[in-house]
Amino acid sequence: MSDQTLLKVTDLQRHFPFREVQGLKMVRATVKAVDGISFSIKQGQTLGLVGESGCGKSTTSRLVTRLDEPTGGSIEFEGRDISHLKEHQLRGIRRDVQMIFQDPYSSLNPRHTVGSILTTPLQVHGLHKGKEKARVQELLELVGLNPEHINRYPSEFSGGQRQRIGIARALAVEPKLIVADEPVSALDVSIQAQVMNLLAKLRNELDLAFIFVAHDLGVVRHFCDQVAVMYLGKIVEYGDKKKIYEAPEHPYTQALLSAAPDINVARGIAPKERIRLVGDVPSPIDPPSGCRFRTRCWKAQDVCATQEPPLVAATTEESARAFREGGVHLQACHFPEVKTDLVAEVPA
Ligand SMILES: Nc1ncnc2c1ncn2[C@@H]1O[C@H](COP(=O)(O)OP(=O)(O)OP(=O)(O)O)[C@@H](O)[C@H]1O
Ligand code: SF4
Ligand SMILES: [Mg+2]
Repeated sequence: MSDQTLLKVTDLQRHFPFREVQGLKMVRATVKAVDGISFSIKQGQTLGLVGESGCGKSTTSRLVTRLDEPTGGSIEFEGRDISHLKEHQLRGIRRDVQMIFQDPYSSLNPRHTVGSILTTPLQVHGLHKGKEKARVQELLELVGLNPEHINRYPSEFSGGQRQRIGIARALAVEPKLIVADEPVSALDVSIQAQVMNLLAKLRNELDLAFIFVAHDLGVVRHFCDQVAVMYLGKIVEYGDKKKIYEAPEHPYTQALLSAAPDINVARGIAPKERIRLVGDVPSPIDPPSGCRFRTRCWKAQDVCATQEPPLVAATTEESARAFREGGVHLQACHFPEVKTDLVAEVPA
């Protein structure tokens, strides 16, 4: 991993305006899908983006890949501001930044053969001219598929194999950053580990940077260098993997970790403390004042309703010590508290 910053996201926003009928009136409203988030990724580094449904993970993915345009803040790729570039100015970015989608069924055109699906990006970017077929076969081999299946259609492959085709398509143009939006959540549990292992192998071999989106912290534990925990359009905790998993400070992160399957139970060790999150995630149209997590937080006090907690390094004794040891660890809570007994592990 190099020290060079590849992607820098600053105060990124995506608000979706819409009109709705309230009583007899038509009123304007805004979905604050992503509401001021900042993070950066170095070459070869992997960031896990984790949070419950609707917190803004896919919107963030679509913004950094510039499939969508932000309504505020900035996205820099290799030092260049790409936030508002027009399609014809995005050519280089379309090669350097690739996306792997959640659904391996809808993300591949059923009328095209695998050969055609993988040749198109090569042609668009003028790569491997005259040797496209050899490159496509090489890509199939790279993702663990039979190169002789080049003339088959997506429907002739299983879900896991289709996701491998999606991965090959992303790799075809030799990108620098891959944004994988829940790439294994639509697959059978038994296949998930195989695809995760493939992604990890490719990431290491090709020195790729990754943004890996997931619902729960267990999935990204072994894959990420850093983790950003999102809640209702905001990042509530952000830091090196070790800090997030071994010394989380934000109540929401602690609840997510605590909800993960506990492998100790299967090993006959007493179950760890469980924090049960109650209630639903509030609407991003009218998020709670102050701290957005306060309506579900067991530690909430008056100040939580009036003042939004900034994303900063905590000032507890434990976090000050961890900070001195180095690494990144930021959290957004008025009353941060380190918890060390919540370890999310995906059962093998
Ligand atoms: N085009 C759009 N117009 C209006 N609202 C939108 C649009 N796209 C997303 N949203 C809203 O923005 C919020 C964030 O959506 P997003 O898809 O980014 O969440 P997510 O974290 O990826 O959720 P999931 O885990 O279910 O995939 C949701 O409330 C969603 O309804
Ligand atoms: S700021 Fe208050 S409501 Fe928000 S997480 Fe911290 S204690 Fe809970
Ligand atoms: Mg999503």
